[in-house]
Amino acid sequence: IDSVLILACGTSYYSGCTAKFWLESIAGISTQVEIASEYRYRDSVPNPRTLVVTLSQSGETADTMAALKHARNLGMTHTLTICNVATSSMVRESAMAYITRAGVEIGVASTKAFTTQLAALFLLTLAIAQVRQRVSPQQEAEHLRAMRHLPLALQAVLALEPQVIAWAQDFARQQNALFLGRGMHYPIALEGALKLKEISYIHAEGYAAGELKHGPIALIDEDTPVVVVAPHDGLFEKTLSNMQEVAARGGKIILISDAAGIAAAGNVAHRTITAPACDPFVAPLVYSIPIQLLAYYTAVLKGTD
Ligand code: BG6
Repeated sequence: IDSVLILACGTSYYSGCTAKFWLESIAGISTQVEIASEYRYRDSVPNPRTLVVTLSQSGETADTMAALKHARNLGMTHTLTICNVATSSMVRESAMAYITRAGVEIGVASTKAFTTQLAALFLLTLAIAQVRQRVSPQQEAEHLRAMRHLPLALQAVLALEPQVIAWAQDFARQQNALFLGRGMHYPIALEGALKLKEISYIHAEGYAAGELKHGPIALIDEDTPVVVVAPHDGLFEKTLSNMQEVAARGGKIILISDAAGIAAAGNVAHRTITAPACDPFVAPLVYSIPIQLLAYYTAVLKGTD
């Protein structure tokens, strides 16, 4: 294969958007991520040397299934599904399947399916990187070490629950919210907005932090909380300047970062959540937890179904 095409809907689409960063930067393979309901109805240029990856919690989402069949009809036969349900149609229809084994998703909004999709996609990245000789054995061992550290990092982030509950108490009174992120954390910001909309019925938008000034900044006032997902990585300084723009407009920033990021932000944030320090590549898995908890506790406090 010489490229990857990821097809998915909703939360699964956002895990694909995160994986694009890994696949292009670690495995050096050109990657496209498409919303299944768009891909299936548009004219596209098929490449038979593409690995078509469908992502789905249920393995039954009609648009994703149709997009998979569409890709196959266009001559793309290298198909892999990353799916949580071993007996699903998508697993049956795909040449290869990776079962995430997250356990049953009880609610419609997928949560643990998202983090396990990310874990699967990170492993897929390493497998492709290995075949393409883009990682040395040492680099591969380092990435795997970062993955093996994840259970500890996720335990630490789950311990932030009391802080998230306090934060959700403010949030439950809001009408609108913005979520900002850059790079791998841009899809995490989109996911934060989707989760909040889907389960607490609060209008929320996710934006690439650098895009804020091109329009959406007009929405910022003291009644619009702005959640910024920004570990202290190579993009942090850029995001900090976006936070300063928000603060200058009176916007209330909730910063989710690690200790170094919180210290670097000084008093620009109204509220902070300190995530454990972790490897920058696997950070999206860790940062998705506080935003899932925020949506959950806001929904509980609002009494939404
Ligand atoms: C939607 C759900 O209907 O389907 C989303 O509300 C979900 O939460 C999306 O992400 C895609 O589902 P699946 O099962 O294909 O991952």
